[in-house]
Amino acid sequence: MKKIQAYLSFVYIFFSFLFFKLFNRNIVHTHLFFVRLHCFTNGKATDFFSKIISKLKKKIKLEQLPTVNLIHFLKEEEVDNFTIKIDKESYAIYPYKLGLEIIDNLYRFSLDNSTSEISNNIRQDKIINYQNKSRYSERLNFFQSDLIKNNYIQDLICDSTILSICQNYLNTSPVFAEVNMWWSIANKNKPSIEGAQLYHFDLDATKWLKIFIYLTDVDINSGPHCYVEGTHKYHNQSRDLLSRGYVRIEDDDILKKYSMDKCKNIIGSRGTIIFGDTRAFHKGLKPYDRDRLVLELTYLNSNFAYNGCNVKLSNLDLKSAHLKEYISKTSIFKNIEII
Ligand SMILES: [Fe+2]
Repeated sequence: MKKIQAYLSFVYIFFSFLFFKLFNRNIVHTHLFFVRLHCFTNGKATDFFSKIISKLKKKIKLEQLPTVNLIHFLKEEEVDNFTIKIDKESYAIYPYKLGLEIIDNLYRFSLDNSTSEISNNIRQDKIINYQNKSRYSERLNFFQSDLIKNNYIQDLICDSTILSICQNYLNTSPVFAEVNMWWSIANKNKPSIEGAQLYHFDLDATKWLKIFIYLTDVDINSGPHCYVEGTHKYHNQSRDLLSRGYVRIEDDDILKKYSMDKCKNIIGSRGTIIFGDTRAFHKGLKPYDRDRLVLELTYLNSNFAYNGCNVKLSNLDLKSAHLKEYISKTSIFKNIEII
């Protein structure tokens, strides 16, 4: 029965892919069948489509585009070595921290802007500010429509080294997908399932890379990002855990399959930058002592099987000259819809 389901999923995804190549959009249920196929094949089908995409879609000459240095610049050889580290371990901590000026700006942004709240494991309808968090609050998500208007974020998403690492890792020209920022709230409640505080894998596309930037100091009691090292590779992903599908996994179940030393907690002071392939099992450890503020950027190898939607930005709010130029000269930011 499972073999028939796997076969049907493959046929569905194969035709979805052809449709995507012809019309540049996903057909309904692509992501659903893609998740099934990923789980049935232990990720081998995901690798297969990712390789086809990198063959069909060439890298772009980033050196011919404006140089934007919001994070410390890395030379080509350093980018290569850093990418190898991500590929080996599922994540890598950037050797330099983000500058204080940007951190302070984003911290102030987090105090001045509204969020959608997750509490009691439910995404609530009400909109609140950080100052109005309650003892039941678990996570406060900022709105992408607000984040994308920020000057620093507009420059950061076209940072030359970030794009260069993404292009190197994805083995094709990157496509910007999302910017997210959220507060993880410290309290003595249970880890939040909805707030991604239990182990899980993401499946944003056939290949993608996320950049997490700590905007507050993070120690073991204030919500470090956790990775099960190497589990973005199909041969390291437990068939048993993957067969459960797109679900959250208890720590005990992870520890039955992987040794403790493979489970890494990433601690670091504010400004710490982590590049991660979140196809690996990962979670944000629940903070108990201090709230954690984090910024996340996502880049894909292609929009194929991507389940998100376009980021809307009005022309008046497009303040970054760099982003303007990138939008006019490349397809990297095609998911930003200028209105
Ligand atoms: Fe995740």
